[in-house]
Amino acid sequence: MTSDTRNILVTSALPYANGPIHLGHLVEYIQTDIWVRFQKTRGHRCLYVCADDAHGTPIMLKARSEGITPDELIERIGQEHRTDFAGFLVDFDNYHSTHSPENRHFAELIYGRLKEKGHIAQRTIRQAYDPEAGMFLPDRFIKGECPRCGAADQYGDSCEACGATYTPTDLKNPVSAISGATPVERESEHYFFQLADFHRMLRDWTGSGSLQGEIRNKLREWFEAGLNDWDISRDAPYWGFEIPDAPGKFFYVWLDAPIGYMASFQNYCDQHGLDFNAWWNPDSNTELHHFIGKDIAYFHTLFWPAMLHGAGFRAPTAVHCHGFLTVNGQKMSKSRGTFIKASTYLEHLQPEYLRYYFAAKLGPGVDDIDLSLDDFIARVNSDLVGKVVNIASRCAGFIHKRFEGRLAEELPDPDLYDRFRRAGDEIAGLYERREFGQAMRVIMSLADTANQYVDEQKPWVLAKQEDTLPQVQGICTQGINLFRVLMTYLKPVLPAMAERAESFLDVEPLTWDAVAKPLTGTRIKPYEPLMTRVDPEAVKALLEASKESLEPTASKPAGPLAKDPIRDEISFDDFAKVDLRIARIAQAEHVKGADKLLRLTLDLGGETRQVFAGIKSAYDPADLEGRLTVMVANLAPRKMKFGVSEGMVLAAGPGGKDLFILSPDDGAEPGMRVK
Ligand code: MSP
Ligand code: ZN
Repeated sequence: MTSDTRNILVTSALPYANGPIHLGHLVEYIQTDIWVRFQKTRGHRCLYVCADDAHGTPIMLKARSEGITPDELIERIGQEHRTDFAGFLVDFDNYHSTHSPENRHFAELIYGRLKEKGHIAQRTIRQAYDPEAGMFLPDRFIKGECPRCGAADQYGDSCEACGATYTPTDLKNPVSAISGATPVERESEHYFFQLADFHRMLRDWTGSGSLQGEIRNKLREWFEAGLNDWDISRDAPYWGFEIPDAPGKFFYVWLDAPIGYMASFQNYCDQHGLDFNAWWNPDSNTELHHFIGKDIAYFHTLFWPAMLHGAGFRAPTAVHCHGFLTVNGQKMSKSRGTFIKASTYLEHLQPEYLRYYFAAKLGPGVDDIDLSLDDFIARVNSDLVGKVVNIASRCAGFIHKRFEGRLAEELPDPDLYDRFRRAGDEIAGLYERREFGQAMRVIMSLADTANQYVDEQKPWVLAKQEDTLPQVQGICTQGINLFRVLMTYLKPVLPAMAERAESFLDVEPLTWDAVAKPLTGTRIKPYEPLMTRVDPEAVKALLEASKESLEPTASKPAGPLAKDPIRDEISFDDFAKVDLRIARIAQAEHVKGADKLLRLTLDLGGETRQVFAGIKSAYDPADLEGRLTVMVANLAPRKMKFGVSEGMVLAAGPGGKDLFILSPDDGAEPGMRVK
């Protein structure tokens, strides 16, 4: 590596481990991945780390509602996220979790140092508390009537009907979204990070060119509004790291989330023998770049640099914010089928279509970007297939049929090649400044030039006569070389297509440096389609599938444990209304820490339910699997210590070893009503 080789550590925001990756997220991960791949093809040492953001109340409640532990939930979602990112060719050097030993270490270290230096305050606050669920309620778990317009069922921070913003205490007839109980006010001791201590440091950092203009302005407003103390603690029950020397108090998820960048990097260092401190000490000469959405700028441009500085670490070189994704000009919507999950997209379309489309739309600012599906189809087909692939496909045939795959020894138009080569500096500058849209425009106008060249030279005419045949080899070699340069420039955006091009050209991985010398006198492989057209029918199918896959959740109530109005729930008093069904025990397992219960997964003829049944004394889980039982199918889900039980299994007998369920085959079928 030369002396101008940079050491660049890059991150994307850590996605929450409570839901799937969707196309909105992908704006960010694709943007970052393109930038990282660009730095790598330029020969810099660039490392891209990320992780799942695995803590917080929503994750705790989601795990409960599924009847699994938070550990199990974040493990499953972590796997799904990795699969989705890999499917979109987002190539992290390391993907970790905030629920990791490294993250606990750094969270405690940073907190400890901040506390030691007097940046942590302690005081008692009053907060909404759910007496039934036995927990303090985050704003978004309180619902009620809007204090301004009276609309029902509004969240604790703002009204979707009239747009009013307020605090949860302003809501009329507030209820907990968790249990439906009326919240009460309760006192609790909290820990605060004194942001104002870092006023000067933040001012200097803000002025150091680390931020986009729009974000700098936003910061100025925040400075003027005053830097308030930040509440970094939450009371049990909470899913996160317990604060040292503060039993029952946990770090707020947003405290340890950005620290997850360090944890993931530490984890990488341990695997690859890298020196963590060389990258994070205050006078490190490495670069640290965070890519984030504009919604989380406050955390990354105020709290995070202040925390790092206060704890004796370097501040970020830059925080790059992007805007939000809209689809067909509107917010992503489940009912319109435009809330598209990454995995659903991949069932219908190729990842590189979207990578290219986002690249073509992305600029350096925080403007929202729109995925207009008609434009998406037209743009990808006309640019990638119609322009870029076209150059290669029209030249390759002649080289194969007439010249046994061999390229000419010289280019007939070296000046034209040179023009393409020299454009590399401008294009590199555009990538560096995240002006991807502009970079794509420059590349496509070069592609137009290359096609014009072939059009003018008319190799198909020259190929008809023996005496002009040798010229055909030169023209097509020229065309293939122009294609090779363009493919190099597009490689950060289209890594898989670039790989196909590398094997078609039979060359080493394309790099910016290799463009200096044209490819002549070698043999290329037979041409195979490098990219196919976007099929409009596949886009239609994608929208259809996105509607379907989300219908069930769309009709579910907002709170994770709120009552489900669709199922006819009963209490014990309503026992007469009980709906008894035959269920097949699909799965049975022990429950850690429970001495009577087994966790059963029941198949009701299509629908699955989780039920905790007190039949451990009579059965080995393995013996239950595949057997039938009678269950109460309309019992209200009950939150138990180990998870939610969605019904009740009926067994008969005196107890102990003698508790009987149905015998294996009585002609009963899952889902049958019991009379
Ligand atoms: N967990 C936090 C980030 C912690 S970083 C220390 C979080 N997670 S998120 O899953 O909600 O979002 C992850 C990233 O995706 C954020 O940068 C967010 O801005 C971005 N996007 C989520 N939805 C988006 C769109 N619809 N459009 C563009 N980006 C969006 O926030
Ligand atoms: Zn309102």
